[in-house]
Amino acid sequence: MTKYASATEEWQQLQSHASSFRPNLEQLFAEDPHRGERYHIQLSSIFFDYSKQLVNSETLRLLIKLANSVDLNQKIVAMFTGESINVTERRPALHTALRSEAESITANGINVMPGVKSELDRALGFASQVRNGTHRGASNKQISTVINLGIGGSDLGPAMAHKALAPYCSSAIESLFVSNVDPASISDALAGKDPETTLFIVASKSFTTSETMANAQIARDWLVESLGTEAVEKHFVALSTNHGAVSDFGISSRQTFGFWDWVGGRFSISSAIGLSLAIAIGDTAFREFLAGFRMADEHFRSADLDNNIPVLMGLLGIWNINFQGFTSQAIIPYSERLGRFPAFLQQLEMESNGKQVHLDGSAVKESTCGVLWGEPGTNGQHAFFQLLHQGTQVHPVDFIGVARSETDYVESHQVLNANMLAQSRALAFGSKDSNGHQNFSGNRPSSTFVLNQLNPHTLGLLIGLY
Ligand code: F6P
Repeated sequence: MTKYASATEEWQQLQSHASSFRPNLEQLFAEDPHRGERYHIQLSSIFFDYSKQLVNSETLRLLIKLANSVDLNQKIVAMFTGESINVTERRPALHTALRSEAESITANGINVMPGVKSELDRALGFASQVRNGTHRGASNKQISTVINLGIGGSDLGPAMAHKALAPYCSSAIESLFVSNVDPASISDALAGKDPETTLFIVASKSFTTSETMANAQIARDWLVESLGTEAVEKHFVALSTNHGAVSDFGISSRQTFGFWDWVGGRFSISSAIGLSLAIAIGDTAFREFLAGFRMADEHFRSADLDNNIPVLMGLLGIWNINFQGFTSQAIIPYSERLGRFPAFLQQLEMESNGKQVHLDGSAVKESTCGVLWGEPGTNGQHAFFQLLHQGTQVHPVDFIGVARSETDYVESHQVLNANMLAQSRALAFGSKDSNGHQNFSGNRPSSTFVLNQLNPHTLGLLIGLY
């Protein structure tokens, strides 16, 4: 029988620890001047600092004990080795295979790796053909606009990564993302576009999602009206697991890039769903992006639990929501280019953990996930930071910063980063004032990620860790 975390003795121990421990960040730092050095992890080009969380060494010891009590290590191995851990759908959750270099990973008795590698090569080969003009439109013109039609995991990942990697994107190809069934979205995307130079990517694992199908139909009609039905072949590509529905729509198997039912939509950015990104950044950069994910996967799989960034992030989340009562989690990238990262994480985390029953169907009594939300800094400072600092409820923050700018405006970038550090300090230590209106109480938790640079590798690494 599966052991649930909340039914363990370790959960009780955390409860009794939480009832007697009154964490005070000012005091915790004063008592332990090396706290900042101890509570951080450097993983290649990413630095993760959790010293400003409301924990001490006893909290962390008990959280790690909790992870061990539910055999987390074995569960990590089960995930990576293709066991059917998605029990309700009787499937593995094997998105890590998409960026693995292993020769063999077995799911349902089949080695998935040859298929993963050949589909990746096909998709990246096609991306190169679009970029270098080998793949052309029906009237032999080079493609200059790529429109991704997809929603949820078939949109959020590629759209977020495309914005994040703007300096790496081809200037010869414009990439657009249409997700909403609101016709304003497709209508704005098509306005002024030339059908002869436009490529549509219909991204849908199921190929039945109503919003995507409605937009694909509008796009098809728009194309056929000027170029005729024969043009569909050169101007439409499908990314899907449902080959029958793709063929019914009129897209050939040559123009279809597949993936597998063991890739959840919210984890699909490293599958063929990344095609629009691959067209924008090219084969080499896309492989670098996957290498970043692979580094996160290998770290998660091999690092000790108390030195393991994803494990610590998960345990701190459990601590904050269940033992501190903090019901939301703000994600604040101090990076305009990571502006869509909070939206991407909303699906990744809230669709994964928005559950009310255990695996056996019994009701969950604890909190499974807080509300994730956020906007880039410094913009957020002029919008909702008032509540983060002075509101009556506490909302833990993940700050995400980038050390080196991709622009020439180094001074502005320094100002940006100085703001991030100042905000995390102010949340932690406050600014005392006898006038209640001016008082910042402090003692509000945050973690901070710093990426050396925002590039395909570090972006893959960051997403992989989350
Ligand atoms: O809304 C649920 C959902 O299935 C998501 O999990 C998924 O990312 C999205 O819809 C889109 O699904 P599809 O790729 O099948 O169109």
